[in-house]
Amino acid sequence: MLEISKSFPGVRALKGVSLSVKPGEVRALLGENGAGKSTLMNILDGVFSEYDGEIRIAGQPVSIRSPRDAQHQGIAMIHQELNLVPELSISDNIFLGRELRTPWGMLDRQRMHAQTVRLLAELDLTIPPTRPVRMARIAEQQLIEVAKALSLNARILIMDEPTSALADAEVHRLFNVIRQLSARGVAVIYISHRLEELQEIADTVTILRDGELIGTHELSQVSRADLIRMMVGRPLQEFFPKGDSLTKDDEELLRVEHLSLSGDASSGRRPLHDVSFSLQAGEIIGLAGLMGAGRTEVLESIFGVHPHRLLKGHVYLQGRLLDARSPQQAIKRGLAFITEDRKGQSLITQLSVRFNISLSALKKFTRWLFIKQLDERAAVIDYIRTLRIKTPGPTAIVNNLSGGNQQKVVLAKCLLTHPRILLMDEPTRGIDVGAKAEIYEQMNRLAANGLGIIMASSELPELLAMCDRILVLCEGRLTGEFGHGQATQEMILEAATTRESTLSSVG
Ligand SMILES: Nc1ncnc2c1ncn2[C@@H]1O[C@H](COP(=O)(O)OP(=O)(O)OP(=O)(O)O)[C@@H](O)[C@H]1O
Ligand SMILES: [Mg+2]
Repeated sequence: MLEISKSFPGVRALKGVSLSVKPGEVRALLGENGAGKSTLMNILDGVFSEYDGEIRIAGQPVSIRSPRDAQHQGIAMIHQELNLVPELSISDNIFLGRELRTPWGMLDRQRMHAQTVRLLAELDLTIPPTRPVRMARIAEQQLIEVAKALSLNARILIMDEPTSALADAEVHRLFNVIRQLSARGVAVIYISHRLEELQEIADTVTILRDGELIGTHELSQVSRADLIRMMVGRPLQEFFPKGDSLTKDDEELLRVEHLSLSGDASSGRRPLHDVSFSLQAGEIIGLAGLMGAGRTEVLESIFGVHPHRLLKGHVYLQGRLLDARSPQQAIKRGLAFITEDRKGQSLITQLSVRFNISLSALKKFTRWLFIKQLDERAAVIDYIRTLRIKTPGPTAIVNNLSGGNQQKVVLAKCLLTHPRILLMDEPTRGIDVGAKAEIYEQMNRLAANGLGIIMASSELPELLAMCDRILVLCEGRLTGEFGHGQATQEMILEAATTRESTLSSVG
């Protein structure tokens, strides 16, 4: 890609960026939220037809102005925002637009199913190919996207944050697949905010900042600190030590007693078995576990997402029975939930940043029937500033923000409701190191003010650094509990993979 430039109304997303990759190379593409990574790759994948600059493949200038052109050139891309059709089956999604047919022109479902099963097996995924995609969890959907890209047999494979929802084990499986592809001569361009990952899988790295090319390096030649400095433009402290706000007689905020959730095959939910723990004011609890361990289900059960008949056990809020029967009830009692699926559950992406941020909190700004517009606008602008949401202004459409900045909008929206308890599912998914640091700082500040936080995360360094306690789940059961500073990544992984409870008692 030579001297590529691209503008959107009010934003110069790329300024003369050049990038070239060799067959078999794994290139990391790194940069802050809004740096232009997805835009550059979307150009290569033909998503944008208007741009300046030239693209050459094997030395030949080519015209890529549509996804079809890109496919023709052997380019496949896993998009940052999942692009699956929820109502269609996994196999229909994988072959969408290029269905296999029998010699008589009928859909050859048998062959499509068989190939789907084989593709999924490469990723160690055993879900029936006929199951609608909407029943798959985010991590599974991410792997289905990978399978779909693999099925194209591309010679250039672009992965835009393929692992943002994956836990360690799945990431390693994906890396094995990437290594096989690269051995076959496929060039892989890999975008991720998880720096450890890049150092493990990529050979070279290209750094973008504010739409400009900062440089391309051998990964073995640069340290993590170098990478951060190049992408952020300044040195940065990644984690902030959490102040010890807890004392023995601190107030108990939330208690979960013998929580069980019956599995519901039709929704693809995993069951929970007898989960008990309590959360104090000012405490940050981390939930660790592999994909499908039940982390999300714990948060959802507390928040009243599941039908009451599927639940056993009780949840108490400050000593009073909560047992929320709906998210509305939970919100009323002072809970807020940041879900892992921002597009599906959290944002109305066709509307403005301002509308999305203040939506849940509008009551606060309503006096009789009037919205106190000035207050509302000031609060929104305040969050745009503190979380450094990169947007032309509060009226910009959320859909036009970069992925990480959309996630920040979700955070701002929840924080503005001033909850007592914050439930967070993968809160820093897709967020760059600089912005992560800001979010951690916010979390610490909230905890210091007496808020209780429960955070599910697949990123162990984040849990180890941020949490007062880490609870580990395996197949819906609590299998480990560690205080701050007690656990290592290995200990957590071990607890996450043992079925037998290593705990004598919890909670
Ligand atoms: N369709 C669009 N309309 C308007 N602006 C856009 C559009 N797509 C991207 N932008 C803007 O272009 C800039 C670069 O966005 P891009 O999505 O490429 O960032 P990114 O590096 O992928 O960030 P992230 O890590 O958050 O995914 C951002 O300022 C973004 O707001
Ligand atoms: Mg992006």
